[in-house]
Amino acid sequence: MTGIKLSWPKNYNEVPKEAFVREDIYAEEVKRIFHGTEWHPIAHESELPNAGDFKTYRLSGVPLLIGRDVEGVVRVFYNACSHRGNQLETAVMGNKTEFECPYHRWLFDSKGNLAGCPNPREFLPGFNKADYPLAQPRFDSFLGLFSSRSHQKPSHYWHILEIRRIRCANC
Ligand code: FES
Repeated sequence: MTGIKLSWPKNYNEVPKEAFVREDIYAEEVKRIFHGTEWHPIAHESELPNAGDFKTYRLSGVPLLIGRDVEGVVRVFYNACSHRGNQLETAVMGNKTEFECPYHRWLFDSKGNLAGCPNPREFLPGFNKADYPLAQPRFDSFLGLFSSRSHQKPSHYWHILEIRRIRCANC
């Protein structure tokens, strides 16, 4: 880890206790692992069997909204309103085809499109709802498991899973 000093015991199977409590190590772990290039499981499709099913999840502090849209497609959004960034959905899970922000009542459909907002006459000329969809992290699915990542660099883990899938398909 860059700039982090940690004295390791003689026996390499003994993890230094400070590794579990030091804030600088935790911050580096968050940066390099959870907000880095690795994939992280965030949901399994069995959790969202029906159109409109959703769950919320925090990936190391990043709020996500994972849902199956009205056409059955699983989508992952940041759980943050595209207006002022307020938390959009507060429930842990449920079934909805629309999400209404509790702050100024912007309404989003299950595909993340801004479907409506109160008092549109108060907005500047040229305001276009199509410019304000929910933001999405990169995500992908593999054997029903949905994972999210912050960069495009491929993960070794994901490659191993992909190779296994190809081998299984050829068995
Ligand atoms: S922050 Fe969501 S509607 Fe304003």
